[in-house]
Amino acid sequence: MPSPPPVCLADFADLARTVLPPQVWDYIDGGSGTETTLSANRTALDRVGVLPRVLTGVATASLRTRLLGRQYAMPVGVAPMAYQRVAHPDGEVALAGAARDAEVPYLASILGSTPIEQVIATGAEVWFQLYWLRDRGLVADLLARVREAGCRALVVTVDVPVLGRRLRDLRNAFRLPPEIIAANLPGGRDDLAHGGTPGVTPVAVHGGVAFAPALSWADLRWLGEQCDLPLVVKGILDPADAVRAVDAGARAVVVSNHGGRQLDGVPASATMLPEVVAAVGDRCEVLLDSGVRSGVDVLRALALGAQAVLVGRPMLWALAVGGRAGARTGLALLADELRDALALAGCADPTAARELRTVSMG
Ligand SMILES: Cc1cc2nc3c(=O)[nH]c(=O)nc-3n(C[C@H](O)[C@H](O)[C@H](O)COP(=O)(O)O)c2cc1C
Repeated sequence: MPSPPPVCLADFADLARTVLPPQVWDYIDGGSGTETTLSANRTALDRVGVLPRVLTGVATASLRTRLLGRQYAMPVGVAPMAYQRVAHPDGEVALAGAARDAEVPYLASILGSTPIEQVIATGAEVWFQLYWLRDRGLVADLLARVREAGCRALVVTVDVPVLGRRLRDLRNAFRLPPEIIAANLPGGRDDLAHGGTPGVTPVAVHGGVAFAPALSWADLRWLGEQCDLPLVVKGILDPADAVRAVDAGARAVVVSNHGGRQLDGVPASATMLPEVVAAVGDRCEVLLDSGVRSGVDVLRALALGAQAVLVGRPMLWALAVGGRAGARTGLALLADELRDALALAGCADPTAARELRTVSMG
């Protein structure tokens, strides 16, 4: 019997689990260590009670949102995720195409399995996500390439000095299929991501060789000077780091623990969000990711002070299930849920949601 169509993002998870090889499911789904942070992300969001306002005269909410000076259809972006062709043969092109259809930003990972020019050719608003290459000259070349290709922002991820210990991948001896390569990495060394080293995943070996582990604030400043694109710093939890990022030129920060895939035991992003918002004030935009699964979660993040959220795994589930059309449906469901949530909370738009009070339901 065919499955009923998904009515929420969690439905895509159930379907994706049936279509993806178990090791690929684990690679996408898993966190690091004991996955304490992975589950804390959900618990923290579930504990955010939002106090709706009544009699506000709102019938239908508008979702339109301004981020980094550009207009988007809703306060949601597709989080940067590596190697999207492991989830579906059309990979990055399908997911970026869905982001274009939904008019939301698509954050392209430096570890994308499709050349960035093909991703931009979908017409999506692409923000390029960088892990710092060991060779500064190559970083500068790559920045020139993505600038030329038409990327709208540069996102530097700062929570991966080394790859988190992902036990599921270690147990599964997960390695990338040979046809999946990092299509934008100069000097590739994809052989490393396909190989086998006992006790460490090939993806971690590859990252360790390609990326510089010991970055500092001076490097971030240098990066901002190299490139006139708006700079976004992703992977911040400590409010003091958020302030330093702004001082170093960031136009936005993403409060994120990488979906529980990096240091296990760090707090949920939603737990740290209010402190980060208070610390930076209106000096930069604040986005949140890690654990967002519904329009109500987006409302929670807005009420805690975020301008927008990024959604990770659910986009890969939808991609795996239905390619571009599946991902488009996933984003449309999120928009419908958020529209309803805003109206139910008495908010005319996302800005009004940032005025809502929250209470802990823990
Ligand atoms: C399979 C997978 C690959 C990822 N690859 C990257 C990446 O290349 N760069 C990056 O900054 N974050 C990467 N992330 C982290 C996401 O950008 C995002 O922070 C996280 O998935 C958000 O949590 P969520 O999946 O619970 O929504 C990846 C996450 C997953 C699940």
